Formats: sequence, structure tokens, C-alpha cells
Amino acid sequence: MTTIIDGNAIADRITADVESCATTLSEAGVKPGLATVLMSDDGASETYVSMKQEACEEIGIEGFHYEIDPDAPATALFERIDDLNTDPSVHGILVQLPLPDHVSKEAVLSRIDPMKDVDGFHPENVGRLVAGNARYKPCTPHGVQKILAAEGIATEGADVVVVGRSDIVGKPMANLLLQYGEGGNATVTVCHSRTADLAAKTRAADILIAAAGVPEMIDGSMLSEGVAVIDVGINRVEADAEKGYELVGDVDFESAKGKASAITPVPGGVGPLTIAMLMYNTAKAASLQSGVDVDLP
Ligand code: GUN
Repeated sequence: MTTIIDGNAIADRITADVESCATTLSEAGVKPGLATVLMSDDGASETYVSMKQEACEEIGIEGFHYEIDPDAPATALFERIDDLNTDPSVHGILVQLPLPDHVSKEAVLSRIDPMKDVDGFHPENVGRLVAGNARYKPCTPHGVQKILAAEGIATEGADVVVVGRSDIVGKPMANLLLQYGEGGNATVTVCHSRTADLAAKTRAADILIAAAGVPEMIDGSMLSEGVAVIDVGINRVEADAEKGYELVGDVDFESAKGKASAITPVPGGVGPLTIAMLMYNTAKAASLQSGVDVDLP
């Protein structure tokens, strides 16, 4: 029997807890505020940002949204960040990635006040995560940890294979799994585009986390019986559908299902957790900046 993991149900439980923290903060006069900034005309990025804003609305977080012409100079984005850094009603700032080629991602992420960096991408927050003292855990890897905990999939002593070495998922995911304590204590292998004999590595996994951004690159033949599969990929592929595309993961769901003890679907697996953990980080940011204590799970 393969468990199809219901990411929406797990995210809903976390969101309910975050909503009650947002209420506590608001009653203390601190309505949590999240600013999203989009400097792109990519359809997927537009969709993600609007989903983040909808989540704010639903749970009582004040959403602020800014769009910057992708052809504008980088200074337009820098100035927006500077304004948001000093705006007391904004506790969290999220600049949607990727950015246009002429805008340095490093310069942008370093410019965000680390206390407002709810993505956890500022070098100070990356350093804290690696040191085992995270302020804001990056949303998608944190969401994966929440899925594993909710499903009772132990990481302690497990051989976990992460496929993908991005700054957004692969690297922070590996770091979280390496930490001492709950959700950590794993033996972590990070695979990437230059990995030799990928299938040999993935077959050795107790838990496989696919975050390469390559549609259906991992199939059942690359998995061992009983593996837990967490598919972080959200890839748009051309399809004879209303929108002209459909969403598929990095894992070939049908063949992987035959091998896995548990697997996340796409959509409806990891995606909802990314948004829930962004709300979580925003509530945490408001708490840290105001000194009003909340009980985040
Ligand atoms: N683009 C894809 N995922 C993310 C994310 O988690 N945060 C930001 N800022 N951009 C992204």
C-alpha cells in the first residue's frame, strides 16, 4: 500500500495554528504584514505571488504587493526594498525569484533587512541556518520537514537523498536534515546535474527528496521498494488542457507509486506547505519585531 500524502490537509492544520497566532498579534495591536515584490512577467511567478497574497488575506495577515517592470534598472527594486525595510507595518519582505538577468540576486537578497527576510535567503540567515540557529527556515524545505513529521517518517538515521542543489530548496533542505534534533539527524546525500550514476544514489535512499526542476526525471526504476518520496518539482509541461499546460513533478508519479511507501502528488503535495510556512515565518517575524510572544508549532 502506498500512502498518497495530502499536502493540503497538512498545510491547513499549520495554517489554522498560524491564523490563531496572527489573531493574538493583531489583538496586541500588531497586525502581521507581508510585502511581496514581483519583477518578472513569468506566468508561474505571477501565480505563486498571487497565491501568497490570497493566503495572507485568508488568515489575517496584511498583504502588500508591488510590481516592478522587469526592464527597469535594478535601482528601482533596491529603492522599493529600502522603503519596505523602514516601513513598520511590513514585517516580512519576499522578492519573488528568479529576477531578470541584469539584477543581481545576491545584491537584492543582501539588501533585505535580515529580520524581515521571511524567505531566509539573506546571508546572515543562511549562516544561522547552517550554524544550527535558524531564525527563518526557508519555506519549502521547512514544509518538507513538516510533511515528514506529519506522516511519521523518521529522518533520524535515515539515508536521505536530495536531488538538486538550489539555494531555495536543495542546499537548505540538506542543511536542515543534517541538524541535530527533531527533523534532522539524517545521513544526507546531495545529488545534482554532475552526479555520476544518479540511479545508484537514489536507489540507496530511505527518503528521496526531488528538487531538480526537471519534469519526471526520476522514475520507479531509480527507486527501492518502500522509499518515501517527496516531490518538490512543480513543472509546467505542454498539454492538451484548457491552459495549454499541466503541472508535473520531478518524479514520474505512476511508476514511482509502485515502489514508494508514501509519495507526495503534484499538485497538492509540497506546494501548499511552501505557502503555509511563509505565513508561519511572517507571523514569527511580526512576533520577533514587536516582542509579542506567540506559540508557533
Ligand atoms: N521562487 C521560487 N520559490 C521561491 C521562494 O520560495 N521564494 C522566493 N522569493 N522566490 C521563489
